[in-house]
This record gives sequence, structure tokens and C-alpha cells, in this order.
Amino acid sequence: MNSWQDSYAGRRVAVTGGLGFLGSNLAHALAWAGAEVTVLDALVRGCGGKRENLEGAARHCRVVQTDIGDPEETAGAVEDCDIVFNLAGEISHGRSMTEPERDGEINTAAQLRFLGLLAHMRPGIRVVYAGTRQVYGVPLSLPVDEDHPIDPVDFNGIHKYAATMYHMLYSRLGQLDAAVLRLSNVYGPRMALDVPGQGFLGVFLRQALLGEDLGVYQPGDQLRDPIFVDDAVDAFLAAGAVPTLPARSFNLGGGQALRLDEIATTIAQAAGTESRVCPLEFPQRAKAFDIGSYVADWSRARRLLDWRPRTDFATGVERTLAFYRDHWETYLPASGALCTVAQGQ
Ligand SMILES: NC(=O)c1ccc[n+]([C@@H]2O[C@H](COP(=O)([O-])OP(=O)(O)OC[C@H]3O[C@@H](n4cnc5c(N)ncnc54)[C@H](O)[C@@H]3O)[C@@H](O)[C@H]2O)c1
Repeated sequence: MNSWQDSYAGRRVAVTGGLGFLGSNLAHALAWAGAEVTVLDALVRGCGGKRENLEGAARHCRVVQTDIGDPEETAGAVEDCDIVFNLAGEISHGRSMTEPERDGEINTAAQLRFLGLLAHMRPGIRVVYAGTRQVYGVPLSLPVDEDHPIDPVDFNGIHKYAATMYHMLYSRLGQLDAAVLRLSNVYGPRMALDVPGQGFLGVFLRQALLGEDLGVYQPGDQLRDPIFVDDAVDAFLAAGAVPTLPARSFNLGGGQALRLDEIATTIAQAAGTESRVCPLEFPQRAKAFDIGSYVADWSRARRLLDWRPRTDFATGVERTLAFYRDHWETYLPASGALCTVAQGQ
């Protein structure tokens, strides 16, 4: 039992990006906890949003389809909310390298306008922002704590860091009360398996479900610490509920440092299809913004938010595959080219 579980009954909560992977899982948890949930999502093309992600919780959520960078549309949706979970964003590192202005508009400009609006309309409101480990760039040592230098290797990391600093600045000015959760790779139900650029875990899951081979960028010993989405959601709920924030930035990781080839093998075996794990040469275009190995030091979140990842990778993969088998038509439409993606993501 988590200490936050009684904190949300009757609270008016806004979730930006709430039709996306992480945001919809959070909206489900908030609806279950009795909150009055308003989801703001523009269903941006190329991102992972889907209306079907709220299936089972839609009755308890008001959905406002709007760009959070549009103050006129957004104002009415947030005017009476008590807490904002700010998950609207674009996660593709690769697309940020080919379309940096698009990434900047989504991850930075829209955020600046949104936070300015919030600071004006709801001064001092708690905002929990979905940051990323990508802001650290290539780790100098592992595990990575919050004092690690910031040195992003792609536009996505730069833009997400600018948005992080907007949250920090408004908090320093006393106009917002923000926490930034720097997430490692998240996986679980409601990932957009049919949208390119959503990260290597989605690619592996899709390939394994379809019985295709899982190609691992070499050397294959790169470390990642995937977080099961329910554990990430718990951290958001904890950061939203704690009466006084004891810090503003928190690294989150899944608790297990796993090699890419181990991750692929676990997924392929759990799927029980014909899939095999094969070595794949690391494409030059992707190598240019690869971060090598990453493992989070999440001890600050454990100490100050009483948070820890509870789901081991094998269990999380089983639950994820079971979800997609039950929702095949929605998440694995019959046609569509298999997406490829940099496994540094
Ligand atoms: N998934 C991960 O592994 C991961 C890791 C680190 C950080 N994050 C961050 O978590 C957040 C959510 O990621 P996700 O995996 O759920 O992505 P997602 O693409 O599934 O969801 C993001 C949602 O945000 C919406 N959106 C984007 N810009 C918007 C705007 N201006 N106004 C309104 N809606 C907008 C999209 O339509 C989409 O539904 C992102 O900010 C991402 O950077 C995710």
C-alpha cells in the first residue's frame, strides 16, 4: 500500500499528454483513486496518443483535445485544477535530430506558454513534469545521480532540459511548485507499438509479438534500467501528493541494470513466438547520438518520496505482453511497416 493512495479522492487533477502512453496509465490510476481527471492532449501526429488508451477510465475523465501551447483553449481546462501532471511531449530522439524545430515547438515553446498560463491562473500550483535521463548525455559514471553534469547529445535532450529549467525558474519565483522526474526507459501497456520512434522497448515488444527477429545494436552489452509503467505512475502520484516537496528533481530507474541483449532475450522468450535475438550493426546515424550505457541512481526518490520500483523486468514484460494479446486490434493493426529505431533511445 502506498501512502499517497488516499490523497487523490475528489481532487481536481489535470494530466497533459493524458492520451499518450504514460499519461493514460496515470489517468487510469488517478480515476481509480477517485480524482476528477481532466486530460489535455492534442493527439499530435507522430506521438503515441490514442483515445483508446483511456478505455475503461474514460467515464471518469474529461478529455479536452487541445495543444497546451494554445492558452485560449487550455485556460478553461485548468482554471479549477488542484494539481497538474505535465506529460505532454515528444519522446523521439531520432526525430528531434531530423526535425529539431518541431521538437523545440512541442517540448519547449508549448511548455513555456503552458507554464506561463498556469503561473498566471493558478499561482503556486503543484506541477509534476515528465523529464528524461537524456539530459545527462553520455554518463561519466554509473549509476547516474541528480548531480551528474548536464550534457545532452540530441535536440530532444536539450529541449526537455529547457522545459525542466522553466519549471525550476517558475518555482524559484514562487509562481509554481514543480517536481521534475527524470525517467529512464519506461515500458508497459498502452505503448504505441505502431508508431515509429517510440523507443527500442516498443520495437522489441512488437517484433516479439509478431514472431519477428529482434535485432540488437552491437556490441549488445549497453546497459539500460527499464521502468515498468505502474512504477513510474507511482512516482508521479507520490510527487503530486507529498505536502512539501523536499527536492525538485528526481531520477527514476527500474532497479535492474540489464544489457540490451538480455532485454531482447527476456522479451523474445516471454512472447513464446518464433522470434530470435540477432546482432545488428549500429547504424552511423543513430550512433551519433547514442549515450552508451545508462543506469539511474534513484536513491533520492527512495529517501524523499518513499518510492521504489517494485516490478522486476520479467514480470513487467509478462504483464505487458498479456495486455497486447488482449488488445491486439487496437495496438497491432494488421498492416504497417515494422518500425526501426535507435536503440540508444
Ligand atoms: N516513455 C518513456 O520511456 C519516457 C522516458 C523519458 C521521458 N518521457 C517523457 O514522458 C512524457 C510522456 O511520454 P510517453 O511515452 O507517454 O509519450 P506519448 O507520445 O505516448 O505521449 C505524449 C502525449 O503528449 C501529447 N502532446 C504532445 N505535445 C502536446 C501539446 N503541445 N499539447 C497537448 N498534447 C501534446 C501527444 O499527443 C501524446 O498523446 C513525455 O514528455 C516524454 O518526454 C517518456
